[in-house]
Amino acid sequence: MHSSPDNPLLLRIVDDLAGPGWSQQSVFLSPTLTEELAQECRARAAAGELAPAAIGRGDRQQVEEGVRGDYTAWLESGQCAPGDAWLALMESLRQTLNRELFLGLEELECHFALYPPGAYYQRHLDRFRDDDSRTVTVVLYLNEEWQPDEGGELRLYLPGGRAHEVMPQGGSLACFMSADFPHEVLPATRERLSLTGWFRRRAGKSL
Ligand code: OGA
Ligand code: MN
Repeated sequence: MHSSPDNPLLLRIVDDLAGPGWSQQSVFLSPTLTEELAQECRARAAAGELAPAAIGRGDRQQVEEGVRGDYTAWLESGQCAPGDAWLALMESLRQTLNRELFLGLEELECHFALYPPGAYYQRHLDRFRDDDSRTVTVVLYLNEEWQPDEGGELRLYLPGGRAHEVMPQGGSLACFMSADFPHEVLPATRERLSLTGWFRRRAGKSL
């Protein structure tokens, strides 16, 4: 995986975001780096560093198991080598998106997410009512040899009442304009790991 601005995978994502507004890349990250990131996520889970995901922001943050059942931990730079490799690749995606589409993306916030078997995340939009800075959503899946009958799809609601489902196959990536695509995570029969990020513009109206 190169991080040069002309990486064809990144340019394909640019084309997709400029067109339909969403992109699925089935082979985005090498199996080695994918597995290293999965190990980091599992290690954090074993160390008790993953917390039940909350909904909303600031004072309005609350855990609602009926809405989402995943456990998350933020990925910051300098925490681990595979995490830094991932953040470097996302930095080149950020620069490519800004250069080609003038999106003005300023930063990435990124977390590991673990869905235990049966957990789901109901239909939602990745924008908070009080803050519209999340602009582009990226989800990298960390699940080796995911089988179609194991569930856990990301269901994207497209215009015109259609939907598109993405299987959370290790090394694959889903990316979409955060404001435009309601989506949900369907329950799976096995543990489901991902690394989810949001490219943000400068914070808008925050409380
Ligand atoms: C989210 C989300 C999708 C996925 O964390 O906001 O929608 O496929 N994740 O994990
Ligand atoms: Mn989401």
